Amino acid sequence: MTAETPTSLSAPAQPDAAPLLTVVTPTYNEAENLPLLIERIHDALGSVPHEIVVADDNSPDGTWRVAEGIARVDPSVVVLRRFHDHGLSAAVLDGMSVARGSHLAVIDADLQHDPAILPGMLSVLQCGDADVVVGSRESEGGGYGDWSVQRRFVSWVATMIARVFLRVPTDDPMSGYFMLTRRSYEATAADINPLGFKILLEFIGRNRDLRVTDLGYTFANRIHGETKLKPSVIRSYLLAVAELRLGRQIDPVFFLYVLVGILGVAVNSLLFTLFEAFGFPRVDTGLNEALDPIYSSFVASVALTTLLLFAVNNEFTFWEQRYRGWRIAGALVLYGVMTLVGTLVHVAVFSWLQETGFLFDLIGDDAARVVHNLIGATVALVVNWYLNTTFVWRRRLN
Ligand code: GDD
Ligand code: MN
Repeated sequence: MTAETPTSLSAPAQPDAAPLLTVVTPTYNEAENLPLLIERIHDALGSVPHEIVVADDNSPDGTWRVAEGIARVDPSVVVLRRFHDHGLSAAVLDGMSVARGSHLAVIDADLQHDPAILPGMLSVLQCGDADVVVGSRESEGGGYGDWSVQRRFVSWVATMIARVFLRVPTDDPMSGYFMLTRRSYEATAADINPLGFKILLEFIGRNRDLRVTDLGYTFANRIHGETKLKPSVIRSYLLAVAELRLGRQIDPVFFLYVLVGILGVAVNSLLFTLFEAFGFPRVDTGLNEALDPIYSSFVASVALTTLLLFAVNNEFTFWEQRYRGWRIAGALVLYGVMTLVGTLVHVAVFSWLQETGFLFDLIGDDAARVVHNLIGATVALVVNWYLNTTFVWRRRLN
């Protein structure tokens, strides 16, 4: 770390000529991995003129210090020590904004992405047949390494969501390893939402004109350090998909709310059916005798569903405003009241539509009932959303 004169370690870019490729690597506590990564990138790229931009979020383990030490002797390494707007996507975008290459790659610093395919990615772009190359675990020659069944499943669900809702032209939309041309970067960067961690999805989800190609590689296991992606990324991922799909006019949290509502309908039907089939567990209080069994299955399934929905909304949908400890009880009561109001709205709208006979002539009685009910449910959903976000999980304005 004492060397002051820049000496080239391996094929660095000419200091004044723009390199052919800039490899951006976001880092957070990767001090042990970074030196090895840089070495492997140089080895893989050989004589290809390149630079490496390390975008570090002021890592407590001093990754930035390690990076600066390397940069002192290796002029092809550029270090960004970021103090603000922390986050994976924001770091990558910052790295790209200082990149000088005509091609830009993003690679994780933890050695899970194999640098050996960098030249292959570059030649795909240089052929001119694609604007973006995705390092893909789903394609020929690709794989996940030793992933647990659980992680494979979560990744599979997330991949399916991206493919179904966003129709992205890659087999591995979850990948964090990709390369794109400077021109594609410049055409898209201004539209990108820097929150979150799905930077590839942002590029190919925002700019539908980009031609995308996959290149297989095998995801390696992490040896040093630990993953920074916590379960809360599932929520931020769904929000990102919603925003990409619905645009910024509609609150993406509303999308989560609807999703949870649909889950509620499914759970409710399931519970009701079960209670009906196996008999609602009877407690001999003398009170039950008076209740019609169908009626008690109904009340029990609605009560359980309401409880579940409250829990999921508190822990997931409105995670930022969630209640803790004893305050949960008060919030639950309030939520129950709002749900009741919503139900009344649902019933009122349905009865009103039935009375006015709206749609009866058009599609017949039976179909009209279904549609009337659906309209009632939709109105109730929107009213409930308004009530819940106003009175239960009040959202701070920012
Ligand atoms: N600057 C910065 N700031 N870097 C970050 C941050 C951050 O807040 N969070 C993570 N990183 C860096 C890590 O240091 C690592 O180099 C890279 O981003 C990926 O982070 P990991 O914590 O290793 O994520 P992962 O292995 O669970 O997820 C990877 O695989 C996913 C697919 O399975 C990433 O590549 C994801 O983008 C990818 O979707
Ligand atoms: Mn990783």
